[in-house]
Amino acid sequence: MQRNLSNSNAHFQKAVKRLPLGVTSNFRYWEEDKTIYIKRGKGARLWDIDDNEYIDYRLAFGPTILGYADERVDQAAREGMELGGVFALATELEYTVAERICKMVSSAELVRFSVSGTEAVMTALRLARAYTGKDKYVLVEGGYHGLSSEVMWYTEVEEWQENEGDPELLPYGEGIPDLYNHLIYSVPLNDANRLERLFKRHADTIAAYLIEPIMGNCGSITADQQYLKDVRELCTKYEVILIIDEVKTGFRVARGGVQELMGVDADLCTFAKSMANGYPISALAGKEEIMRKIGDDVVHGGTYTGHSVSLAVANKTLEILDETQALTNIAKYGTSLSEAIGKILSRRGIPHCFVGHPAMYGLFFNTTPPSNYRDWVNSDYTFYEVLAPNLHDVGVLVEPDCREPLFICEAHDERCLNETISKFEQALNMTLEQLESENKNPRQKNNKK
Ligand SMILES: Cc1ncc(COP(=O)(O)O)c(C=O)c1O
Repeated sequence: MQRNLSNSNAHFQKAVKRLPLGVTSNFRYWEEDKTIYIKRGKGARLWDIDDNEYIDYRLAFGPTILGYADERVDQAAREGMELGGVFALATELEYTVAERICKMVSSAELVRFSVSGTEAVMTALRLARAYTGKDKYVLVEGGYHGLSSEVMWYTEVEEWQENEGDPELLPYGEGIPDLYNHLIYSVPLNDANRLERLFKRHADTIAAYLIEPIMGNCGSITADQQYLKDVRELCTKYEVILIIDEVKTGFRVARGGVQELMGVDADLCTFAKSMANGYPISALAGKEEIMRKIGDDVVHGGTYTGHSVSLAVANKTLEILDETQALTNIAKYGTSLSEAIGKILSRRGIPHCFVGHPAMYGLFFNTTPPSNYRDWVNSDYTFYEVLAPNLHDVGVLVEPDCREPLFICEAHDERCLNETISKFEQALNMTLEQLESENKNPRQKNNKK
């Protein structure tokens, strides 16, 4: 550790007395002496309470699409505040934002708002069950869909060997009832034959197939376009609801999300993050026939749904994303950055590849891009894990775990780009020296298996 974190370290000791792990989300805890506390964010930069400055590529796990404290968004928030908050009654603004979403997303015919991505996915699954009269659902290995017990299951691949059959499906932690396990079928990404075999045998019990086609929680490992088209056909044929979880990809990889990018329409889709530049709001959208079940026996609501600040901000953010070149500029930045990093790594003979979309991509230390979560273990993620803290030390913030991709926002400008490139080179040199002294050269050891 090169930078000074004395204030963060001292604050951790205080915070841990009142907050488990000293934080408000388990994922923000980076060990006792590495957990940082943020003083403020502006544009694409963050400052911690020790005044260390970072160019941020985590962007709060994706929502900051325009930049922190964006003046256009802040003005909208102030206007939303003046409306008064929540009323346990509806406002006109709900309709305005729903209209905008239906204009931008081709499969969105009706919309309901919630507060978090977790709630949007929960409601999508409930609705799929109600509409089909079936209970089970399919999850894709490596996907993440929020904190509800029904989706808090992951596939254990780190200890898994190919000759052992399918990897095990495990709960993310304790307190998640095993009964959900009996409702889930888990499948690897990009294997349509396998999905069809499953549907042939069990579609009469399966309500939904839930997918995040660019896995924003798994290094942006991406569904092939043909696979997604096959999935669409199979879901229609076997009467399974196709839920596309666009909590991370929505209003980021294209105006109409991953559905526009891949030319595939979901039956139901979920949005959050980029739709309000980090303010708490999510949306469930989809086909009218299915969405009309809400109100007709399916319950959806919540005290904080349709908060006037979140709606006003969503309205402004979506207007900007829809009517300006913001997403094109974000993608251009992402491409320039990956090309520059790629050149630096190639010059040193370090095998690597980028996976995903220029607005959110994973960096893998392997020449072949992973096509599903089982492939992820073939990347030298230990190299990434040594590199990430060195990047933090020089002022570039990436997730310590390589399963979280790099996110780009509109506020990443030319200065951020040039600074990141030279800081990346610096952090890479530190990493190579460190590994050399420990005798772990990535040019010899690029495969984990
Ligand atoms: C694809 C996906 N779905 C759902 C969620 C849950 O959203 P939230 O954290 O807002 O509850 C996330 C969060 O990262 C996500 O990436």
